[in-house]
Amino acid sequence: MKFKVDEIASVIAEEIKQYRSEADLAEVGTVLEVGDGIARVYGLTDAMASEKVTFANGASGQVLNLEESSVGVVILGDYLGIKEGDEVRRTGELLSVPVGDAMIGRVVDPVGRPLDGLGTIETSLSRPLEFKAPGIAERQPVNEPLQTGIKAIDSMIPIGRGQRELIIGDRKTGKTAIAIDTILNQKGQGVVCVYVAIGLKESTVAAVIDKLKEAGAMDYTIVVSASASDPAPLQYIAPYAGAAMAEYFMYERGSATLCVYDDLSKQAQAYRQLSLLLRRPPGREAYPGDVFYLHSRLLERGVKLRDEYAVVPADTPEDSTDRSLAVCHPEGFGAPEEHRPDDGQALFHRASGRERAEAWLATRDDAASHRVHEFPDSGGSMTALPIIETLEGEVSAYIPTNVISITDGQIYLEPDLFFAGIRPAVNVGISVSRVGGNAQRKAMKTVAGSLRLDLAAFRDLEAFAQLGTELDPASARQLERGRRMTELLKQPQYSPYGVNDQILSIFAGTRGFLDDLPVAQVLDFERELLRHFHDEFPELVEELDRTGKISEELDGKIRKVIGELKQHFVRELEAAKEAEEGEEGEEGERKEPPRGERPAAPRSEAPEAAAAEDAEPVAAPAAAAAAGAERS
Ligand SMILES: Nc1ncnc2c1ncn2[C@@H]1O[C@H](COP(=O)(O)OP(=O)(O)OP(=O)(O)O)[C@@H](O)[C@H]1O
Ligand SMILES: [Mg+2]
Repeated sequence: MKFKVDEIASVIAEEIKQYRSEADLAEVGTVLEVGDGIARVYGLTDAMASEKVTFANGASGQVLNLEESSVGVVILGDYLGIKEGDEVRRTGELLSVPVGDAMIGRVVDPVGRPLDGLGTIETSLSRPLEFKAPGIAERQPVNEPLQTGIKAIDSMIPIGRGQRELIIGDRKTGKTAIAIDTILNQKGQGVVCVYVAIGLKESTVAAVIDKLKEAGAMDYTIVVSASASDPAPLQYIAPYAGAAMAEYFMYERGSATLCVYDDLSKQAQAYRQLSLLLRRPPGREAYPGDVFYLHSRLLERGVKLRDEYAVVPADTPEDSTDRSLAVCHPEGFGAPEEHRPDDGQALFHRASGRERAEAWLATRDDAASHRVHEFPDSGGSMTALPIIETLEGEVSAYIPTNVISITDGQIYLEPDLFFAGIRPAVNVGISVSRVGGNAQRKAMKTVAGSLRLDLAAFRDLEAFAQLGTELDPASARQLERGRRMTELLKQPQYSPYGVNDQILSIFAGTRGFLDDLPVAQVLDFERELLRHFHDEFPELVEELDRTGKISEELDGKIRKVIGELKQHFVRELEAAKEAEEGEEGEEGERKEPPRGERPAAPRSEAPEAAAAEDAEPVAAPAAAAAAGAERS
């Protein structure tokens, strides 16, 4: 038998080719060394950064460091069961988490495993942990408010949907409280909330979950928890996992979402720990050089996506997301501005999109058989409320300055205010919202326009007045007004205010109706005021809600109601006091009125003040301030 050399050579060559493609050696590596949640793995030469790998014991990991002859992997699971020499497999995928409706109401760890004992989560959907933030063209400016229900914030530091607003302050200053109240206030607003707890004590997280359950907020909330006792890798990925879960609702449902990251200082610490174990060089304040990127790529995912409209055949279902049904504009970018599509074809974007699509439809002959469609998966948003803990109020430390520069503003909480009983302890002087004003209700803007600056000026003046200096009448008035506004803005936890209630109560304050009330009575009067409006004048509240602004006529009506109510309130106050004094007075001399820190409207002057109130609301405080000045 004769062999053909050529044939054999080609058969062998073919075999070799196939052999190579069947057994891909590069896909499996071995653990070189393991410890503290980190493994160094040899042999994964083609691994990608952030790729998911699986270990022999079932734990998964994420490739974080690509080195010349090995890769550094963070282990997301039981690292004690992994030993040197174990097999590690590439998956070719980025790390992802389960997402979808099934996640709502659940408490999960950062890889999506349930922690609440309510059984497995039935969802086939998943999204990558790290997702590139959309570009500028896919966004639109913040234009819808996200009401926190907290007077001091909604009036002075308004937050819009899609905004990133930092909550910053020392430990135990009420940071978490603000975030939780904001979640509670989203009830019935169609906002999906994600609360990410990073490095908190398990008991703290449990208390938060109880509170959310009690208030019925778990119906629209997902809790992602990596507590202090969880390994650093889980604490590091937790915020990304939370963002991915919210992104599903934002991108695929067009929903508004809210992510709270409580808190990112702990995430940075976990990341520092990982990085040092991976032998990355430490940088400023011992954080690795890319810790800015850690927070910027997370917060950049907080956006307001553009709305998308198109002209479609009239029989298109309302929930259709099929862009190919959109009728193309024959002129594209050449069309007149009032009906020019934004993509040069058929899609109209952003707030003005509907108008332009309608304008174009009106010019078409087949207008009757077509309609303007808003794609239901467009226009979603992710509002991010990252929390950062400072040490001794040090905002110029590395991590706080990073996050301040990434976000669209900050709410700064101060221990001094907190312990003085001013809660929420917002320092209005250095708190800002850079974009939220655009989304604030007109009515709120009208009543609270200069409140932030006025209050900041008041705090300065107050510090000055403590020196015992004599004040001119204008400053004294400012001081009195400031004291009452500060009192008015106090708010207990878990009691969010509706936006109309906020507007009415701030109206009373900034329009001077509280100036002649004793400071201690301000919150009582406010309660009375809101009850009165809801019981007796629901039509005014309704008008305020419907129009969202205060017309001149409405302004007059509200003033009248508040003015009358106050006269009544002051009269009752007087009567109560007289009754009290009557009881005590028999003993002999009248006691000096108590003179605490508040030189409030003196008793004898209150009735006149009440009478003169409508005409000259500032008369009484001037008198009161004069009394205050005398004292000092
Ligand atoms: N508006 C408020 N009125 C009354 N008490 C409040 C208010 N806000 C917060 N508190 C209380 O202050 C304490 C600290 O609040 P919180 O836990 O929100 O602060 P934190 O800054 O998140 O603290 P930590 O540093 O532990 O995270 C809690 O006991 C809370 O109940
Ligand atoms: Mg907290």
